Amino acid sequence: MLRVAIDGPGGTGKSTIAKAVAARFGLEYIDTGAMYRALGLKAKRNGVNAADEDAVRDMLAATTIDFVGGQTHLDGEDVSGLIRTNEISMAASNISKLAIVRAKVDEVSRYLASTKDVVMEGRDIGATVIPDAEVKIFMTAAPEIRAKRRYEQLLAAGKEADYDRILKEIQERDYQDSHREVSPLRAAEDAVFLDTSNMTIEENIDAVAEIITAKTGRSA
Ligand code: DC
Repeated sequence: MLRVAIDGPGGTGKSTIAKAVAARFGLEYIDTGAMYRALGLKAKRNGVNAADEDAVRDMLAATTIDFVGGQTHLDGEDVSGLIRTNEISMAASNISKLAIVRAKVDEVSRYLASTKDVVMEGRDIGATVIPDAEVKIFMTAAPEIRAKRRYEQLLAAGKEADYDRILKEIQERDYQDSHREVSPLRAAEDAVFLDTSNMTIEENIDAVAEIITAKTGRSA
């Protein structure tokens, strides 16, 4: 069994790196943030306030989330494209504060990690979701660097971008994800820290691959 937990704040490049590492080692890639995003999207669509626990409980009881061929499905609908907006980032962060929401996502995550070898990415995977994961990595990068990468990504995609606003949003979400009461963003005690501020994507993938090999003896 091989379970690689990659945690860290938003915008560190975790998804890109986790996907590439999963492909290299032949592991399944699981994006837990996508589940919070899908729930944030549904709450928004249905006018459910993340602070109204009863309404969220009812919503959860009538919700299924699946990954089909790497795409995120919400009640059978492929929402992968719809959940990658700033608005949904914050909606996901808001709804992820609730213990009942975390319990639902944790259940799906643990089930997936029990059926196959995975690279699972999120905020609390190594500390809470799979505390016995064979490899735990905590990725960080300075907020200014994360904002700059996001800014350049948007420009490269021909979209509008405002660096100061992006930086502010990153800092707000960091604060909220790190200060919630239930299972906040936190490194497991036995996690390997990786500061990616000065790494290219290739260097970052190699660094994670080296950690996996050092911990498990498995090479790509
Ligand atoms: O990784 P991401 O940006 O897609 O995550 C979106 C939000 O979901 C994030 O701001 C906080 C929440 N989240 C969480 O609380 N726990 C996780 N394991 C993953 C994401």
